[in-house]
Amino acid sequence: MCGIVGYIGNRKAYDILIKGLHRLEYRGYDSAGVALVARDGKINIFKTKGKVENLEAFCADKDLGACTGIAHTRWATHGEPSDTNAHPHYSEDGNIAIVHNGTIENYKVLKDALIQHGCKFHSETDTEVLVQLIEYIRISNKCSLFSAVRQALKQVVGAYAIAVVAKDKPDTIIAARQSSPLVIGIGDNEYFLASDATPFVEYTKECVYLKDGEIAEIKQGESLRITDLDNEESEIDVTTLQMSISQLEKGGYPHFMLKEIFEQPDTLRDCIRGRVVDRGHRIIINGVSDNREVFKNAKRIVIVACGTSWHAALLGRYLIQDMCRIPVVVEYASEFRYSNPVINKDDVVIAISQSGETADTLAAVQIAKEAGAFVFGISNVVGSSIPRETYAGCYIHVGPEIGVASTKAFTGQVMVLTLLSLAVAQLRGTMTDDQIAQVGKCVLKIPTYVKRVLETLNDKIERLSLTYTYARNFLYLGRGYSYPVALEGALKLKEISYIHAEGYPAAEMKHGPIALIDQEMPTVIIAPKGHVYEKIVSNVQQVKARGGNILAIVTDGDTEISKIADHVLEVPEMPECLTPIITSVPLQLLSYYIAINKGKDVDMPRNLAKSVTVE
Ligand code: G6P
Repeated sequence: MCGIVGYIGNRKAYDILIKGLHRLEYRGYDSAGVALVARDGKINIFKTKGKVENLEAFCADKDLGACTGIAHTRWATHGEPSDTNAHPHYSEDGNIAIVHNGTIENYKVLKDALIQHGCKFHSETDTEVLVQLIEYIRISNKCSLFSAVRQALKQVVGAYAIAVVAKDKPDTIIAARQSSPLVIGIGDNEYFLASDATPFVEYTKECVYLKDGEIAEIKQGESLRITDLDNEESEIDVTTLQMSISQLEKGGYPHFMLKEIFEQPDTLRDCIRGRVVDRGHRIIINGVSDNREVFKNAKRIVIVACGTSWHAALLGRYLIQDMCRIPVVVEYASEFRYSNPVINKDDVVIAISQSGETADTLAAVQIAKEAGAFVFGISNVVGSSIPRETYAGCYIHVGPEIGVASTKAFTGQVMVLTLLSLAVAQLRGTMTDDQIAQVGKCVLKIPTYVKRVLETLNDKIERLSLTYTYARNFLYLGRGYSYPVALEGALKLKEISYIHAEGYPAAEMKHGPIALIDQEMPTVIIAPKGHVYEKIVSNVQQVKARGGNILAIVTDGDTEISKIADHVLEVPEMPECLTPIITSVPLQLLSYYIAINKGKDVDMPRNLAKSVTVE
């Protein structure tokens, strides 16, 4: 939540900051702002409610000439989205400015103390408290900006990534992090700063990820200085980025979401690459083979995640239980962390997070580690907090996902969970070599099958979406492997079209939701061939008998459901355990086109953010 960008160098900072904010808008778009520090010691702050494009319009006639600056795009926590609550915030004397991502939990206590010292506040934000505290310390202790930030942060409880600039230090940015991400890009006589590396990937590939509790002095023409809050120098660990600029652009698609849906044949191929070998006979997940004993002896697997990743986790339960015969518990990370969880030393805890930064999932990782479990991370963002904090893990390698509604990351997560289950089954001998090879061979075909689904169904779904656009409620039903797919399909629809949609296990429908069924409420049924197929046929009939309108996802050549449903979308036949990846693709397209028909902003749906770094 909230995106931060900073720049010091010889270029026009404003241009770099604005472009960077656009890349980080997935983190929030309630308001945006910049602080530009001119060499003559003047700070210009421009900020507005709304998206970055509003800020650009607002700045069109302003003095934007400066080579140092910080910028912010906000997802509101303390105080409504407004011009006043927008970042950057500044000290009362106007000498220093700050941008902040995170929440200062003890801001009220700090604010009251500052009010006692005569400080006046203009916004409702916790961030303004921090900037006033820094300036108060700088003046009262007559210390450097770096030292004032460090001392202020020692008083702070909460999460933060911050960037601070001062009038009298036009060549310096002070940055610090605790629980919220921050990365410094190292260019040629210039530095960049951002919540992730996307704002500066076209300028430099060299970067340093700040660690929790670190504070950096970023000064043009000088080496980076990083210390902890006790002023102990830290080691500077330079990483080379693998990301390319083309991954961050729309590549001819009208929206990132559509681009990301259509990228799935390639992203799934990247995800599988090197992991399914000997033509499907052997599965290699390094995080599993490097920890053979852990996975061999695990008594239970606990999977923690949030949002779409939690739906992938539910599929993980079906996959692991089926293939490895290990009991699996799936928990929302936010519930897990406060549920006094019973974790044993022979449990493996798997944390799934696209961003690798979700605050609740990260907290669940810490709790699992403290309880002595082996903690394994599944993430997309290389170098993010969850991969760093877990003992082993596996990247999904689907490239940056920018659309706020997750698509390619979901299928990547499900793919990794499938491969992990096969790898563990191989290790524990719960599947025969033949069974593994049978599934392994089909895994290799998935990218081609997903491509076929996109080619054959895209236009049909676009047309069909017109029939469903004006429904006010939807029910999504599935059984077994298709149940989490139903949940994810419903979530996709509500996220971007704002239509109420509920995912349900198909058989549970008769214990409540069946009362809702009428001609006005479409039911989407995910019913590929599998061991519960006949059961779901009965559920389809139950809906039809109540006059419900049915859209069904079925296997190519299906005759039974096709006779009952109003519309069907056919997908290629696959072993049951592999159907979720194939059946979720038409549901992504359906929600995309319904949202487009309704004129919604699919890439930046209202109130949502892609990376949720607050509780
Ligand atoms: C937000 C996003 C979702 C995502 C969830 C978990 O709610 O909008 O798309 O699934 O966070 O994020 P993570 O990065 O941990 O997978």
